Parts: sequence; C-alpha cells; structure tokens
Amino acid sequence: MDAAGAPIKGTIITEKDVSLAPLADRTVAVIGYGTMGRAHAVNLRRSGIATLVGLRPGSAAARVAVADGLTVLGVSEAVVRADVVVLLLPDQVMAEVYTAAIAPHLRPDAALGFAHGFAIAFDLIRPESRRPCFLVAPKGQGDMLREAFAAGGGLPGLLAVTDDSPPQTWQLAAAYARAVGCLRGGATATTFRHECLSDLFGEQVVLCGGVIELLQTAFDTLVSRGYDAENAYFECVYELKLIVDLIQRYGIDGMRGRISGTAAYGGLTRGPRVIDASVRARIEGILDEIESGAFAREFLARYADTEHGTAALAAREAASPLAQAGRRLQDRLRALDTAGSGADGADEAEDVAGSSDAARPD
Ligand SMILES: NC(=O)c1ccc[n+]([C@@H]2O[C@H](COP(=O)([O-])OP(=O)(O)OC[C@H]3O[C@@H](n4cnc5c(N)ncnc54)[C@H](OP(=O)(O)O)[C@@H]3O)[C@@H](O)[C@H]2O)c1
Repeated sequence: MDAAGAPIKGTIITEKDVSLAPLADRTVAVIGYGTMGRAHAVNLRRSGIATLVGLRPGSAAARVAVADGLTVLGVSEAVVRADVVVLLLPDQVMAEVYTAAIAPHLRPDAALGFAHGFAIAFDLIRPESRRPCFLVAPKGQGDMLREAFAAGGGLPGLLAVTDDSPPQTWQLAAAYARAVGCLRGGATATTFRHECLSDLFGEQVVLCGGVIELLQTAFDTLVSRGYDAENAYFECVYELKLIVDLIQRYGIDGMRGRISGTAAYGGLTRGPRVIDASVRARIEGILDEIESGAFAREFLARYADTEHGTAALAAREAASPLAQAGRRLQDRLRALDTAGSGADGADEAEDVAGSSDAARPD
C-alpha cells in the first residue's frame, strides 16, 4: 500500500483480502448487455448484489437480460437509481452515451466503473474531480468469465482507479472485482493507461493481429505450393490450440518438453528467423501508435467506414481461402462432436441467448 492506502502497482489482490461490504445495500447499474455486460450483471446478481441493466429503447438484448432474471430500464432511468454505474458499451460509442444519457443523471456520490481503460486513458470521458472511478478488466472474454464463475472459478484481472478518486475507491473496485469473479485467480493493481495500452498492444501484435496474419501467410504458402487446403489448415491453424493449451498449462519451457524433439528443434531454430529484428522494429512502431493515441484516433474515425472499417475488413477476411477452409473443416468436425456428445444444438441456443461476438478474445 502507498501513503494514501492504495495498492502499489503490481500488487496482487486476492479474494481472501477483500470484502463485499462496499457493495452491500448499493445498487449497480450495468449499462450495455453485450458479451461483457451480461457476464458482469449475471455474476453480480449471483454474488447477491442489487443489479439493474440499462439499455437503449428497442434493444434486442433486453429480452436476454429479462430471461436472465434481471430488471431492465432505460439508460438514464438505471443511472438515476444506481450507486455504481458500470459502462459496458462498445468503446467507440461510450463517450457519446456518457455525455447524452449518463453524466446528466449520475447521483452526486455515484461511482463509475469500466471493464477496459480506453475511454479514460484517451480522455474521451472525463469524470468530474473526486468522482469515484474504477476499472475491473477481466483478462479474458465475457462469456468465459460468466462460465468460469458459474463453475466456481473466475478469470484473472487488472484493477485500477483514477488518480483523483477518493482513496476508498480501491475497496469498492476490489469488492466489485470479487463480485464478478475477477479475484479468484488474483487481480493485479495497475493504471487505466497501462491496462488500456497493454491490452491494445497484445490484441494487435499477438492475439488478433500478428498471430492471425502469421496463420494466413503460412497457410497461403503451403497452398500456393500445391499442398491440400485442408492439410494446410490442420498444420497451420487447427493445431495452434494444442500448443496454446500446453503453454497455458505448463509454460513455454514445459510445452517444449512435451512436443517431439523434431518440433522443438525446428521451432527453436526457425522461429527467430520468422520473427527477426525487422519484425521487432515494426512491433515497436505499433506500440508508438498506441502510446501516442494515433491508433485510437484512427479507430474512432474509421471503425464504421464502409471501405476501411471493421465490418468491411472482416468481410474481406471471411472470404479468404483460409476462412473458407476453416468453415469446411468446422462443419465436418461439428458433425463429429454432435454425434459423439448428443448435445444437439446446445451451443447454438447459448449463442442466440448471448451476444453476437462471443468468439472475441480480449
Ligand atoms: N467482449 C469482451 O469479451 C470484452 C473483454 C474485455 C473487455 N471488454 C470491454 O467491455 C466493454 C463492453 O464490451 P462488449 O464487447 O461487451 O460490448 P458489446 O458487446 O459490443 O456491447 C453491446 C451492448 O452495448 C449496447 N450499445 C451499443 N451501442 C449503444 C448505444 N449507442 N447506446 C446505448 N447502448 C448501446 C448494445 O445495445 P443493444 O442491445 O441495443 O444493441 C449492447 O447491449 C468494452 O469496454 C470492452 O472493451 C470486453
């Protein structure tokens, strides 16, 4: 702890250190009921916290929230009744919704919560001074948080509060993290800026950018040399999960000891040739764009662009030979799973009830 009673950056906070008392007799309004909103709201409710959901008029998510046993109100109506207002909206619309429907209705002592630091780190939302404002960022995707919590587990997380929040905001953040299932594996104290920038960096350079491009390039190389597309998909994409599972369970060194000697030698000697100093320089450049705010400005200006926005780019990717090979294989393997488990259609039913971007990693 520092002089003000806040945990020093890097401190691990676990369930045994934390009481739910700061949330007792308080009402939380979860604004937005997508992947993360649903996970937070359902887990809060299971933790015994009074929870409301705030949605815009005509929201399709309202019926899902009601089916989950939650009370749904308009955004402003939920904000007026809440002691803690958690913004679980797409990052690109958060500031606009905050200005129009949240800020004017906040109770004077109400706290603001976030699951990602984007709006605060890039100054898109500026809560007034002394407004308690915290971040509980689960290190994983929303549906995974909900499922892990229901099974008695949780996800690790990152916690932060803004510099001019009252000191007791840390206790509120920790209680909130416990209630949504982010303390079972321990949560690390950080800042909004570091959570946001490291998260953007990881998803762009590794998880949703670098790795995907590596898969595409490796797949295209094999196919252009006459290898069968399905064979190429197995080698360059499908088996990635096996390696990731080994790394998750045993670490990089433990993974090396569990694969063949041929694979270990080949990987250790060829990997550094694929990712060489020129790649490192470009990775540094991507971090520069994130730190300077250039990426955030580009995203906000372009995300809905019909030519360069997310939907247009994703549609082009979905038409790629790799995506087509993946769909063919998934159809075949899903038929196998269904025949084996007898769980006919269960996953699809869950997807309809949940959100549309269930597969987004974060
Ligand atoms: N997705 C993840 O797994 C994940 C992981 C880590 C952190 N996060 C963070 O969690 C936050 C929420 O992300 P998310 O992926 O859960 O968002 P999302 O699924 O895209 O959020 C959809 C929800 O936001 C509502 N919404 C969208 N535009 C709106 C508007 N203009 N006015 C009012 N409501 C609007 C939608 O309402 P309708 O029902 O009316 O469409 C829906 O309920 C973000 O800060 C994100 O970075 C997400």
